Amino acid sequence: MKDFLGKTAFITGGAKGIGLAMATVFAREGMNVVIGDMDNDQLDEAESKLRQITNHILAINVDVTDRSALENVSDQIRQRFGPLHVLCNNAGIGGGQRVLETPDDMWRRVEEVNFWGPINGIKVFLPDMLGHGENGHIVNTASFSGIEGHGHQSAYGASKFAVVGLSEFLSNDLADTSISVSVLCPHVVDTPILDSLKSRLTAEHLKLLEKMAVPSMTVAEQVLSAIKQQEFYVFCDGNDTRKMLEKRSEKLLGAMNRQFPKGENA
Ligand SMILES: NC(=O)c1ccc[n+]([C@@H]2O[C@H](COP(=O)([O-])OP(=O)(O)OC[C@H]3O[C@@H](n4cnc5c(N)ncnc54)[C@H](O)[C@@H]3O)[C@@H](O)[C@H]2O)c1
Repeated sequence: MKDFLGKTAFITGGAKGIGLAMATVFAREGMNVVIGDMDNDQLDEAESKLRQITNHILAINVDVTDRSALENVSDQIRQRFGPLHVLCNNAGIGGGQRVLETPDDMWRRVEEVNFWGPINGIKVFLPDMLGHGENGHIVNTASFSGIEGHGHQSAYGASKFAVVGLSEFLSNDLADTSISVSVLCPHVVDTPILDSLKSRLTAEHLKLLEKMAVPSMTVAEQVLSAIKQQEFYVFCDGNDTRKMLEKRSEKLLGAMNRQFPKGENA
């Protein structure tokens, strides 16, 4: 997509953090912006912030785990703005420690929001996006935790690996269509989701985290650029993250080389 003026975007989890930043960037491009979130107070606050940029704003209370509620959102968007062009499946929650320490209900809730949320969004909105024939884009918010399994945030990380996988298959499905796909994989972004983590850190680790954290508006600009350039993976951080990715890639290739040295699998 190159043309944003007068087009319509829907962002889940759009009332704060990365979602609100994406909504802000899209509004500045002249888009009609719809934010969906479960948090009413934050929705009101976000709506008035966005109205300082444009009046083409709709803020809707919705839980992404509820597919019929998303269908209702789809009707509201169609009535108010017409066809949808950009879908950002962004709502997400943290959760999970070591696998054995993570209760089943936490595994289920995190998967329900972080993985089923995007599936619900795709199932509800994609048929119409394909049907109207105009160029469009889907952004699924995963995480760098869905690219490399660091630490012990089991339920969260597993859900984000699933979102990366979902996005890769979706991108295959949509290869010859008017809709393209990106998967957003930031490592640490300065948003309210980090608040509970921050409260558990030592002063030294807190300083490190704050040094690593990327502003949410930077991430949103990277998303806009990825949509314009049709880039699939959206990475948002610099050197430390690259080293983690290199280490994982070396491990994968190392394992393959041990089993099939010098192209014996050819
Ligand atoms: N902040 C980071 O460091 C970071 C890093 C990588 C990935 N992410 C991902 O980015 C996305 C946005 O995170 P953020 O940092 O902006 O967090 P945030 O907590 O600031 O914002 C998330 C928003 O999603 C909403 N939400 C939660 N569950 C919902 C549901 N079931 N239905 C509708 N809305 C719901 C919340 O009310 C909130 O407004 C998440 O998917 C998160 O996993 C964040």
